[in-house]
Order: sequence, then structure tokens, then C-alpha cells
Amino acid sequence: MTVLPAAPSTIDRAAALLREGAVVALPTETVYGLAANALDARAVARIFEIKARPSFDPLIVHVADEAMLRRVAANVPPIARTLIDRFWPGPLTLVLRKTDAVPSLVTSGLESVAVRMPAHPVARAIIERAGIPLAAPSANPFGYLSPTRAEHVARMLGDRVDLIVDGGPTEHGVESTIVMVEPEPTLLRHGAIPVDAIEAAIGPLARELSDRAKPLAPGRLPQHYAPRTPIRLVEPEAVAPPERADAVLLAFREAAAGYRDARVLSPSGDLREAAARLFLYLHELDACGAARIDAQPVPLEGIGIAIMDRLRRASHR
Ligand code: TXA
Ligand code: MG
Repeated sequence: MTVLPAAPSTIDRAAALLREGAVVALPTETVYGLAANALDARAVARIFEIKARPSFDPLIVHVADEAMLRRVAANVPPIARTLIDRFWPGPLTLVLRKTDAVPSLVTSGLESVAVRMPAHPVARAIIERAGIPLAAPSANPFGYLSPTRAEHVARMLGDRVDLIVDGGPTEHGVESTIVMVEPEPTLLRHGAIPVDAIEAAIGPLARELSDRAKPLAPGRLPQHYAPRTPIRLVEPEAVAPPERADAVLLAFREAAAGYRDARVLSPSGDLREAAARLFLYLHELDACGAARIDAQPVPLEGIGIAIMDRLRRASHR
């Protein structure tokens, strides 16, 4: 396993490896991604293998500029243009009509492709240097906690990837928001850009109904982002003291007595800080060997909606 700090020489090496068809883990502003040449089906197949990801779950393609966007997206409708001008580079993924250059493995056979232009300077430098769009899902085994630090990737997938580029902890801590543009603008995943910011730019978004037989965002399963330790959403006051003894607590603003261990997402109640620490603390609590993780709900506003989406799916069984 090779983990290298994101110096210019590492960026060159990552870009060269990616051009040769390798799989490289790299930092983005949301979570770490597991990247390969999006236009090379053999390289992309290795991502699915490494993650043990089912082939019905399509990947996000990362681009560095408009020319790369045009290589993978057949058209950019006016709504997409408005969103791109407002939110790119940044944690917004758009689902657009794909070009023939994108292998169907990337899109799980869909005629659409998910694209985003990351804001993270290391991710951008690697894409630019490689000169190719990069397919990259989050760098975790399928269904497990997302990685927000290079150590998380090293621990979970270190023996299986060619290189891990260490760019330090990620800024947002939850994945990008996903919006499907056509036939009507529809929210497919809550994420780092709050839905009200998107609606302020383009008006109301349709919401995908979670119970459809064929979801618009395949791979958005009810259970996802889960630690190995069973986790449940609960207010600590509702848990009787004897029940706390063999559990650990993920609290929002304040720890509660009696737990084996606890992490506080944000003592000041700052939801952005809470999002940035969410997966770090879940990785730490998962390593405690406790019988259970009790996770306290956070307010359903701004990025708190994305945090609650992750916690609900993590606790689903
Ligand atoms: O922040 C992020 O988006 C991170 C970083 C690495 O960029 N990536 C990420 O990828 O979260 P991943 O694979 O964990 O989630 C991608 C999800 C898929 O599970 C699927 O729900 C949706 O994006 N998706 C991808 N292509 C799609 C398409 N053509 N139509 C609808 N949904 C799609
Ligand atoms: Mg993921």
C-alpha cells in the first residue's frame, strides 16, 4: 500500500497511474473518492471489484473543465447551466444525458451520466494533469461508512488500491447533492449543498419517491453508510442508564453520562462542523467494540438534512 502526501510529485504520479488504467484514491471536498479513467471500461471495472459494488449502482464522473464536461454530457440544458454557473466547482452532481464516449459500465446501462466538477485543489490538479474525466465513487467498501481521511481509505481498502493521495481531512464530510436535470429538475440525494440553496437558484425541485420499484438514483439503498456496530437514532434522554453501559454515543451538542464512550459533533450546534466530523466519529465509535451506537438526531435544516439522511440509512435494517 502506498499513501503519499499531496505534493506536486504525488499529483504527477497519480495522473500517470490513472492514464495507465490504475485505480487511485484521492481527496475531494466531500469525501475521498476511488478514481479511474471514466472512458476506460477495464479501469472502471476495477473500481467495482475493489468496492465490491453491485453493477446496478452507477458512478459519478469528475471533470476539471467545460471541455471535459462536453466529452461526457451530450447537452447542457438551461437549468443545468444555471446550476453549473452557481455551484461549480463544488459539491453538486448533475445527472445529464451521456455521450457515446462514456462506457455503459459507468452508468449501469443508463442513458444518463452523473457529473460533477470538484472544488478540491488536489482532485482538480489530478484530473487536469491526467487530462481525462475520472469516475469516482466514495472510497469505501459498498454500504460501509464513507471515508473523510486518507487513513480511512488505507484501513478499508489499502491493500487493494494502487495509490492513496493524502490531502488531509475533507471539508464538507458528506457527499455531493445529486440533481437530475431532465425531464424535470429532481433531487436524487441530499448532500453538501443544502436543497434550499438549489431551490433559491432554480425554483422547486421534485423529490424522488423512495418507494419506487426502479429508483431514479440506483444504489441509493435504504441501508447504506453503515458501521459494523449496530446503530440506532435515539435521544439519549430516552435511553435508561443501564442500557447505556455497553453502548457508545454520537451526540450533537453535548455528551450524556453513563455511555462507554461518546463523541460530540458540534458543541456550538454548528451543522457544517457536525457534517465534517460525522464519518470521522462514526469510524472511531465503530472501532470501540461496543454493542451499539446510539446516534442523537440533529436539526433537519441546511446540511443537517444530509446528516440525517446518512444516519437514517446507517441505522436501517
Ligand atoms: O461527493 C461525492 O459525490 C463523492 C465524491 C467522491 O465525489 N462520490 C460519491 O459517489 O458519493 P457514490 O458512488 O458513493 O454515489 C454515487 C451515486 C450512486 O449511488 C447513484 O445513486 C447516483 O450517484 N448516480 C450515479 N449515476 C447516476 C445516474 N446516471 N442517474 C441517477 N443517479 C446516478
Ligand atoms: Mg458512496
